[in-house]
Amino acid sequence: MADQKVYQASTTAPVNIAVVKYWGKRDPKLNLPTNSSVSVTLSQADLRTHTTAACSSSFGSEDSLLLNSSPQDVTGARTQACFRELRSLRAQLEASDASLPKLSPLPLRIVSENNFPTAAGLASSAAGFAALVRAIANLYELSSSPTELSRIARQGSGSACRSLFGGYVAWQMGEKADGSDSVAVEVAPASHWPTMRALILVVSAEKKGVSSTSGMQITVATSELFQRRAEVVVPRHMLKMEKAIKEKDFEAFGKVTMMESNSFHATCLDTFPPIFYLNDVSRAAIRAVEDINTKAGKVIAAYTFDAGPNAVIYYEEENTEAVAGVLKSALGNLDGWQGRDIKEQASDNLDARAV
Ligand code: DP6
Repeated sequence: MADQKVYQASTTAPVNIAVVKYWGKRDPKLNLPTNSSVSVTLSQADLRTHTTAACSSSFGSEDSLLLNSSPQDVTGARTQACFRELRSLRAQLEASDASLPKLSPLPLRIVSENNFPTAAGLASSAAGFAALVRAIANLYELSSSPTELSRIARQGSGSACRSLFGGYVAWQMGEKADGSDSVAVEVAPASHWPTMRALILVVSAEKKGVSSTSGMQITVATSELFQRRAEVVVPRHMLKMEKAIKEKDFEAFGKVTMMESNSFHATCLDTFPPIFYLNDVSRAAIRAVEDINTKAGKVIAAYTFDAGPNAVIYYEEENTEAVAGVLKSALGNLDGWQGRDIKEQASDNLDARAV
């Protein structure tokens, strides 16, 4: 009788929030971006995906994926690309060592759980694909580095490549047509800047109107601002951001973070038809951060928004009261605001807590 043993491995991957944004693909099939990006990985206490990957000849003939208990389609090109790449690495190992069990042909069974609302637009695909790739790499006992795995996760979802690392991470756009140099690298570990905090303002837990994937394609096809952003604005922001992180210069970090978010959303507005991700509550959060910084006489808080209205506010621990406290009272009474969902996060593995 054939070996019916179940092989399995588990892992977790965190959410990352970009401070220099990825928006635009130069190759949609390989998921190659039009510009580099930088993100901060959030604590896993509140926002992470836990994934178990298993394989066995007893699983029938099909690969399967359950996310928060509901079956997902695994036939899509992105998931298939990740499976194919990982299987081929395992097949190479098996070819070089005949004593290894032949796992590469076996059907995969993947089970994932997010510990945050999947629909809340909180970068769930980033943590999701990073966890999927690492769980299968663990199952196959691959010795690939996080950067090597990031090349595979990128093909699942671009932003996922940055969730293979903690701390401050750059996704280098690369130059090669095959995407082999479009990978994530560490800029600095979380421990480099342990006072960094992020506050997540969940303005809406609804699924976003225009997905990142299709939104960025329409931007590339229609926006004239986009070209300037990709060629001039982002390369400048990349240099300034990496310097700010290395020097732990919050004022520079905060200024670039906010200008980046504004540049990205301006490009969305310049898309035709226009894409609106920010709403009135998002704009109230921007004004509240501006007031906090004006009062402080310097940048002590920085907002950023992805493809949805939810704000992430970065600040340093010493300014917790001046930032988190003030934001809570400034925004607490607005319609559309869900004060209970304010989360305080450390970029290191400190416990997240509601404020
Ligand atoms: C605004 O990584 O979700 O969050 O590669 O098509 O899956 P796909 O896109 P995705 O886009 C993220 C866009 C962003 C900015 C960022 O995270 O850099």
